[in-house]
Amino acid sequence: MTTPTWFDTTIENALINHKSPEDEQGYFVYQLDALKEHLAKLQQQDVIKLWFAVKANPLSKVIQTLDGAGFDFDVASSGELTQVLAQGVDPSRILNTGPAKSKKQLTAFVKQGVNTFVVESLNQLNWLQEVVLEQEQRSGALVKPKVLLRVQLQWHEGEKNPLGGNSLTPFGLSVSEWQKIHVDSFPALNLCGLHIFQWGNMLSNEKMFSLWSQMVPPLTDLAKSIGMTLDVLDLGGGLGIDYLAEGQTLSWSKVIEDLAVIKEESGVKELWLELGRFAVAECGYYVVPVVDRKMNYDQEQLVLAAGINHLLRPAITEQPFPVQILREGFSTENTNMQAFDLHGPLCTSMDKLGHLDLPSDIAVGEQLVFGYCGAYGFTESMPFFLCHELAAEYVYQNGRLTQVRKSLPASSYLA
Ligand SMILES: Cc1ncc(COP(=O)(O)O)c(C=O)c1O
Repeated sequence: MTTPTWFDTTIENALINHKSPEDEQGYFVYQLDALKEHLAKLQQQDVIKLWFAVKANPLSKVIQTLDGAGFDFDVASSGELTQVLAQGVDPSRILNTGPAKSKKQLTAFVKQGVNTFVVESLNQLNWLQEVVLEQEQRSGALVKPKVLLRVQLQWHEGEKNPLGGNSLTPFGLSVSEWQKIHVDSFPALNLCGLHIFQWGNMLSNEKMFSLWSQMVPPLTDLAKSIGMTLDVLDLGGGLGIDYLAEGQTLSWSKVIEDLAVIKEESGVKELWLELGRFAVAECGYYVVPVVDRKMNYDQEQLVLAAGINHLLRPAITEQPFPVQILREGFSTENTNMQAFDLHGPLCTSMDKLGHLDLPSDIAVGEQLVFGYCGAYGFTESMPFFLCHELAAEYVYQNGRLTQVRKSLPASSYLA
């Protein structure tokens, strides 16, 4: 194999030929035709309703493509809500998740027409009921939002914990906390479902199915004990991407087959997923030039024009994005490859995009392309440290590269 599976070579020439001095500090490209095709495949089923977790990539063109593919939208902040509404999406197609919903934020969301909420605390639940009643007083009509309770499960000490540890997070509440409420105490809310999502980047269908299966009994028991008719079960995201090229990929058709079983076992009318990386990671690339090359002790190092200021994820997950050189006629078959440490320009050793194979004759000025950067790229970075440029973002569609947001110098954000 001369071309890695993550690289769609139809975009290669456009990237090689793209010359723009403003983008010499690194830029993102999202291939919208490929994204559209991928999303259409995800929608070829009638088992689950799909939402897009906007945090994965809030670029307007990406949201518009998801919209066109029939996805609804999971937003976790006022900024994400504003961005989705700005693309012309009806608020009835927006779901609000996240642990930091103040009463003020809930009020603003309800006023803007959002009608589906995943609540993550007793306070959020009580505030939402108050907000809806206040709204009723103002308008004379009671509009009951759909509400899902977010549950966080733990396994007893000593038992095998399929969730990878009993570490406590602010996402949702334990079964025993939710058991303090009863659905009848919330007449202004349509408490119709449960939400659970406690895993990340899963690459095994078997493991995912095992996790989902183990969750059904505690969740159906909880619903019964608080008087809830469990109509909706939202299993969040967590469907993985093979960043490390370990040859593990989730089979979507198996996911659907497994979820049909979960739907049957839980007895719900609707099963929801909010996909982030599984929806958009593959469509995105990040391009950056090499600004220096040196041998340090016994290690070859490349210093790039940008690093974690544009792509933070490798530093916090220790999973590099895969990389390839952008060179006309490049093939690994006729190229001597060797491992380089890839560093960015920040004054911290954390600024490293990986230890990855590249041609041994790579030279200063040549460009690298990183894959799977369609999710958790531009907005999951630390762009301000050391006052570097903000990366430009492009889309590639119908064979053309179009700039959506230009690169901006530090003077655009420094005061
Ligand atoms: C509530 C919620 N849903 C969905 C997602 C998307 O996750 P993923 O990118 O793993 O699909 C996230 C990610 O943090 C999340 O917080």
